[in-house]
Amino acid sequence: MDLVTALARARTDEPPGPDTPAGPAVPDWPGPARELPPAAPGRLDPSRLLRLSLAASDPAGRLRPTPSAGALHPVDARLVVGDGCSLPPGRYGYDPLRHRVHHLGPAPHHTPPGVTVELTVTPQRTQSHYGHRAWPLLLLDTGHATAALRLAAQAIGYPRPGLHLDGSTEHPLAAVYVPPPGAERQSSAAERPSREEDRPAPQAAPPTPTDLLTRRSAPPPLAGTPARDDLRHVLAVAEAAGAGRLRWCAAVGEPEPQLVEMAPDGTLRRLAAGEARPTLAVWAAGQRWLADAGAVLLAYGCPSDADAPRIRGDHLHAGHAVGCAQFAAARRGLAARPVGSWQRADLGAALGGPPHQNWIVHGLALGAGRPEKRTS
Ligand SMILES: Cc1cc2nc3c(=O)[nH]c(=O)nc-3n(C[C@H](O)[C@H](O)[C@H](O)COP(=O)(O)O)c2cc1C
Repeated sequence: MDLVTALARARTDEPPGPDTPAGPAVPDWPGPARELPPAAPGRLDPSRLLRLSLAASDPAGRLRPTPSAGALHPVDARLVVGDGCSLPPGRYGYDPLRHRVHHLGPAPHHTPPGVTVELTVTPQRTQSHYGHRAWPLLLLDTGHATAALRLAAQAIGYPRPGLHLDGSTEHPLAAVYVPPPGAERQSSAAERPSREEDRPAPQAAPPTPTDLLTRRSAPPPLAGTPARDDLRHVLAVAEAAGAGRLRWCAAVGEPEPQLVEMAPDGTLRRLAAGEARPTLAVWAAGQRWLADAGAVLLAYGCPSDADAPRIRGDHLHAGHAVGCAQFAAARRGLAARPVGSWQRADLGAALGGPPHQNWIVHGLALGAGRPEKRTS
């Protein structure tokens, strides 16, 4: 698959064809399914990490802690387990529907203690509905899965798991490393930190298991312009988690429709005057409800001449950052829903800049939500 050509085609207004079969929801992992062992004192518990991030909570597999375009959940997880875990060292395939693992073989030499969750995709699942528009969504979904793993790691006591999101590899596309309790971070390929480590993120209490297990994307309409401070906070979370790979702004509605972005001093400033949301609705596969969303947070960049590693890295970071921003929005009592399919969305050119340089890569629609749900 030529990713450069696939992205160029996904960005055109060519409509996808009729739906095709999505295929099995879980890879055909070899060997018997094993239960994940119960937690053991002083050891990392992969069962809990996966339960709070990737496991399905309904037999159809739609309801999971991580969101997914069309609820098609194309992301597959392999575990590379070292010492210090309740699961013995080895390589395992994960079945998110049964919350079981399949032993694939021994752990490679020099596997660090703890667990590395390696993520790949089964493209057929997303292609079954989105056709030629699938590839950006597959990468964004993978980024959202890394955000879910990161939040789950935080919920079980690891504030800074190692993230591999730079797009340099196709197999796996991304990886998240979580060390066992008390272990110093070991350096490994899977743990290569992203540039996120350099950027300060707004401080917030770690997620609770209930936060993660009850997460849902808000159904449209997402009415009501978020309070300016809430919008600033969500944008700051997205920018920090996006690690400087993309630019970020938000289209806001009444009382003064405009595009805003973060100023260097951490306040919001105007990027452009005027109403952008109806255009965004057209660019986002004609999803008309976006024209009435309270605000739409946007990640943009990934120029037309980007090569495959850059395309992967930009989309993985966008998915990761929007996943983190969606959580931050929920924390503030805002309604939030990711928006992933964009056509002809050359935001840079629309703002008067050179064409083909700054395409919308991902969005997060926001509504004012219910003030009484605000928690922090
Ligand atoms: C990468 C990505 C793109 C998405 N794009 C859209 C979209 O364009 N429109 C929409 O209504 N929902 C979109 N969603 C939300 C999914 O439809 C939603 O996550 C899915 O139905 C599962 O529901 P849940 O998030 O409540 O678990 C997107 C989600 C992801 C992760």
